[in-house]
Amino acid sequence: MDPDQEKNFLDSVVDGVIAVDKEGRIREINQATLDLLGYKKKEDLLMLPFEEICKNFSLKGLRDKIPLAEQGLMYLNKDGKEIPVSVNISSRVSYPDDTIFMARDISKIKELIGELTCSQAELKTSYTELKVSKDELVRSEKLAYTGRIAASIAHEIRNPLTNVSMSIQQLKRGNRIKQEGFKHVEIVERNIERINYLITELLNCARPTKLNFQPYDIHTVIKDVLESNKAKISLQRIKVTEDFTSNPSTLRIDKEQIERAFLNLIINAIETMPRGGNLTITTELNGNFFLAKIHDTGRGIHEKDIIKIFDPFFSTKSGGVGLGLTICYGIIVSHGGTIEVESKSRKGSTFIVSLPR
Ligand SMILES: Nc1ncnc2c1ncn2[C@@H]1O[C@H](COP(=O)(O)OP(=O)(O)O)[C@@H](O)[C@H]1O
Ligand SMILES: [Mg+2]
Repeated sequence: MDPDQEKNFLDSVVDGVIAVDKEGRIREINQATLDLLGYKKKEDLLMLPFEEICKNFSLKGLRDKIPLAEQGLMYLNKDGKEIPVSVNISSRVSYPDDTIFMARDISKIKELIGELTCSQAELKTSYTELKVSKDELVRSEKLAYTGRIAASIAHEIRNPLTNVSMSIQQLKRGNRIKQEGFKHVEIVERNIERINYLITELLNCARPTKLNFQPYDIHTVIKDVLESNKAKISLQRIKVTEDFTSNPSTLRIDKEQIERAFLNLIINAIETMPRGGNLTITTELNGNFFLAKIHDTGRGIHEKDIIKIFDPFFSTKSGGVGLGLTICYGIIVSHGGTIEVESKSRKGSTFIVSLPR
């Protein structure tokens, strides 16, 4: 190909072609490069150092490495704007000392990659949200199921249990029991009590079907629960701190239910600090929600247990029933709120209840 033929050929190529001499000056350029960089005439660029239109580029040592694999470079257009390009570098056949740069604009591809990365991140967020909703759904299904079973079993057991209880009373009344027998009667009575307690807890577990919403001061509810547990609190040398917001704290709640929820949380906190510690209750407003944080300095919750603690019958306590948090969860959710936990082994726990205002 003679030089004229080569020029015509270059202008018909869609990629931007630039020939650079061994001094690093632009020796030849095609129409596609002019279009890419926004120049009108080839003369505007001819004999300029290649570095003027290619950012952070040095020709030094490059010739020894030719042919090079495709490279990503940054061209600068007429106004100094960066244009990402993918470049093939080779030597020029008609002038072997020249280096040929054949560039393809990849700004569109870069943009697409950017958009794709964004979509990927969005997809990831949606997936996480979906998983949380699914877990919530499974949990609330489990709760509803437990509730239904609990209610039917509880009714079945309560009647015969009442009969047993009444018969025991009859036996005691008639002085028909001798010394030895009394010990056993007491055991029976204690166990009846325990079964009764379990039945009550199971019935509480069934999500309340009809809530009695009334405006009520949530701080008073918390104070009442603390007051009803003050003997245990002082016996175990637990220091209580009430860090309450001065904002209005009246919420529309079913007072009895919410009291039961806080009672379960506060009892758990007390039970985790048998040899003293701090129980801190903080309240604050967060947008349309009222937050109550119950923090203890007890033994904390094992990471592997965190996802199980709201499950019915999950308990790590000897003699624990494992329904307290299940009941609590049901009550808070039926108020349109949420309950979360933050905890580390041996570092204490914080239960965060949020209720709509
Ligand atoms: N404040 C807390 N500190 C440490 N562990 C807790 C706390 N609250 C709950 N847990 C864990 O969650 C489990 C379930 O609690 P809960 O449903 O109230 O049942 P129970 O108190 O009968 O064990 C507890 O057995 C305990 O392992
Ligand atoms: Mg409990």
